[in-house]
Amino acid sequence: MNIEIRNLQKKFNDNEVLKDISLKIEKNKSTIILGQSGCGKSVLIKIIYQLLNYEKGTILYEGKKNIDIDKFSMLFQYGALFDSLSLSENIAFTDYMDNKINYSKKVKSLMSDVGLDISNYHRYPAEVSGGMKKRAALARALYKNPKVIFLDEPTTGLDPINSDLINDLIIKVIKKRKITAVTITHDIKSAIKTGDNFYFIDKGITQEEGRCDNILSTKNKIFKSFITGARY
Ligand SMILES: Nc1ncnc2c1ncn2[C@@H]1O[C@H](COP(=O)(O)OP(=O)(O)OP(=O)(O)O)[C@@H](O)[C@H]1O
Ligand SMILES: [Mg+2]
Repeated sequence: MNIEIRNLQKKFNDNEVLKDISLKIEKNKSTIILGQSGCGKSVLIKIIYQLLNYEKGTILYEGKKNIDIDKFSMLFQYGALFDSLSLSENIAFTDYMDNKINYSKKVKSLMSDVGLDISNYHRYPAEVSGGMKKRAALARALYKNPKVIFLDEPTTGLDPINSDLINDLIIKVIKKRKITAVTITHDIKSAIKTGDNFYFIDKGITQEEGRCDNILSTKNKIFKSFITGARY
């Protein structure tokens, strides 16, 4: 699904978080949102996902203002699983809550897609590793066959090896299922590896945009400082 954002503004009381954000999310592509901590990345995707309202601007989903949000799915930044539910109950959360008991085949197929051994079906989050929790959270986000998936820092808290594995997995599942993906990350390496297009947000404005394979050749000074970790 194509999503276009024009001149978006968002304030929390006096805190003007997003001043003028314009971007295009292309259908079946992987779009990366980059920016310093606190610049409004999570707020931006929550607005697109209609979890937050906004003051000014336009969001067009396939050219229209209204959209059935059921086609969207989100892997939240601290998208913890429910500790009191098993991995399978977490993955099938909506159907589990509706007391639908016929989800096991679907859950097992998703577990296989995200590289979770079936022996984990009845395990609780506390009994599995951080990487396995991320895989289960990804399976939960895929459960409703979304057309668009938002991934907020999907590799946070993982070591480099597990981050790489999760990045590879994300690329594999979104390409295989032809999902439009919007990923927030601090990690340039992940952006280059998993993204088609990127937007860099700073001081409430879209400061730089382009193709992920050109990130390192940017001429934009602020973006360069962000990439190299320099203060600015
Ligand atoms: N529900 C809210 N109420 C009030 N202020 C909020 C709310 N959500 C976010 N903010 C503020 O909006 C700003 C941007 O927050 P956001 O979570 O989008 O940052 P971020 O870019 O995702 O940062 P990080 O990389 O650390 O996750 C922050 O100043 C934050 O305090
Ligand atoms: Mg965030």
